[in-house]
Amino acid sequence: MADRQRQKWDAGRFFKTLAYFRVIPFSGFFECIANLFGRSSKSSAIAPTQPGIVLVVGATGGVGKRVVRKLQERGYPVRALVRNLDRGRQILGDRVEMVEGDLLLPETLSDRLMHDVSTVICCSGTKVQPKEGDTPNREKYYQGIKFYMPEVIDVPELVEYKGIRHLVDATRRQLNQWGNSSNKMLFDFRKVTQDLKETWGVLDDIVMGGVSESNVRIVENTALFTGNVSTSNSGGFVSIRTRNFDPPLDLSAYQGIDLRVKGDGKRYKFILRNESQWDSRSYCYSFDTVSNIWFTVRIPFSDLIPVFRAKTVNNAPPFDPKTIYSIQLMLSKFEYDGELNPKFEPGFFQLQVESISAYGAQEKPQFVHVSSAGVTRPGRPDLNLEEEPPAVRMNDQLGGILTWKLRGEDVIRASGIPYTIVRPCALTEEPGGKDLIFDRGDNIKGKVSREDIAELCVQALENPQAVDLTFEVKEGMEKRPEKYDLSQLERDRIAII
Ligand SMILES: NC(=O)c1ccc[n+]([C@@H]2O[C@H](COP(=O)([O-])OP(=O)(O)OC[C@H]3O[C@@H](n4cnc5c(N)ncnc54)[C@H](OP(=O)(O)O)[C@@H]3O)[C@@H](O)[C@H]2O)c1
Repeated sequence: MADRQRQKWDAGRFFKTLAYFRVIPFSGFFECIANLFGRSSKSSAIAPTQPGIVLVVGATGGVGKRVVRKLQERGYPVRALVRNLDRGRQILGDRVEMVEGDLLLPETLSDRLMHDVSTVICCSGTKVQPKEGDTPNREKYYQGIKFYMPEVIDVPELVEYKGIRHLVDATRRQLNQWGNSSNKMLFDFRKVTQDLKETWGVLDDIVMGGVSESNVRIVENTALFTGNVSTSNSGGFVSIRTRNFDPPLDLSAYQGIDLRVKGDGKRYKFILRNESQWDSRSYCYSFDTVSNIWFTVRIPFSDLIPVFRAKTVNNAPPFDPKTIYSIQLMLSKFEYDGELNPKFEPGFFQLQVESISAYGAQEKPQFVHVSSAGVTRPGRPDLNLEEEPPAVRMNDQLGGILTWKLRGEDVIRASGIPYTIVRPCALTEEPGGKDLIFDRGDNIKGKVSREDIAELCVQALENPQAVDLTFEVKEGMEKRPEKYDLSQLERDRIAII
């Protein structure tokens, strides 16, 4: 019976498959054959990570330029918003990507500035200077120790409030596309920038003598996996698989995979591998599709089943999300251990994939804002103005600078973006390297170096404890710890509107 069903086997497709994945050592005879069938020069794919860009606003300022330097030193992709490119180059050098823009001109906070941005650090502020004037590099203003009668150059309502509103709007628009910090996009086929075929190859039952035939291509901004699955020649599966990632993909911060698909009512398998060998143990998850309906399949890593050649493996180690070599999607006649796929039918199939992403990481701040201690103090009846810092005492003469800073903070807190709002006491040009004292309630007075505030902002990016915190900060007497500890600070309680 099986013999009567035998069909002609296609050696060309067989060698093409092996050549794509470079399965066998290509030497001698196989080398020649593989070359004949279009062996690719590549044997691996780059792990699909899209490191988001950190946008620094106020990058030419005293805190901002230090934030840029520290981000670069730690290997973050950085973009700086500057009001003037020449001035930007003078202060930041040539190795920083800069985009000219102005918080007061929302049209400049465009896609050109925001594309691929995953996080914003905002260190902008109203320009203040001693009334008697300053040196070209603003040394008098910056030193923060000796008192000079200050005056504002810009309009605080515009810089601290309206400008921040524009920036938050632009950030929210961008993050709606980019996603939040608890998810990581791996493949977004809606905006494929690289050649799909560089990473994804077809792997059908031809490798075992079968005649099923599938392909994958971009159609309607999705990856369309389609073809014909046949049980002839004892076959019965089609699949697409990535080349091995080099280095392997590390998803240890995440809990699983979200797969956005539209299928044909059939049951498919999603497969990950912890080993680079071709024929190695895999970790599988079967999912049913609903004909012609888009939906998201959530695949917790803990639900993956260890499998070797469609047989479950007892005593296999649990799936390790830290070392993922490849991803595969399969339609197979078989489930596991000889069981049949209950939704299997030979013939035409199609599965459209819009995206593959990881989900479930701890949320981290995506908008870090440098505000100021004292923003709630103007008009507070419990305070003796004489004992307050100049910015509080002179809030009215300085255009309500602190009042507008508070309004700007309110916009950030209500934005729905995970944020950290840092309120430093008087900023100095001292070298830093100090421990920091954090507080809430807006009561502390003191000073703190711009260097340490920049360090705090950069550390906040990787710190889930920093999410949705507003706090004051001044320097202490001790040395800077390796990591600032924000765990004692209570999160803001705020209604998101
Ligand atoms: N001085 C203090 O003691 C003290 C204390 C607590 C908090 N703070 C606050 O801490 C923050 C950082 O202080 P800092 O000393 O680093 O400030 P800074 O040196 O005055 O820098 C301000 C930055 O904001 C930029 N900026 C101003 N208006 C802008 C606009 N409309 N669009 C785009 N960028 C704009 C400036 O760009 P340009 O270079 O083009 O001017 C500059 O890069 C500020 O918000 C400040 O108010 C200061």
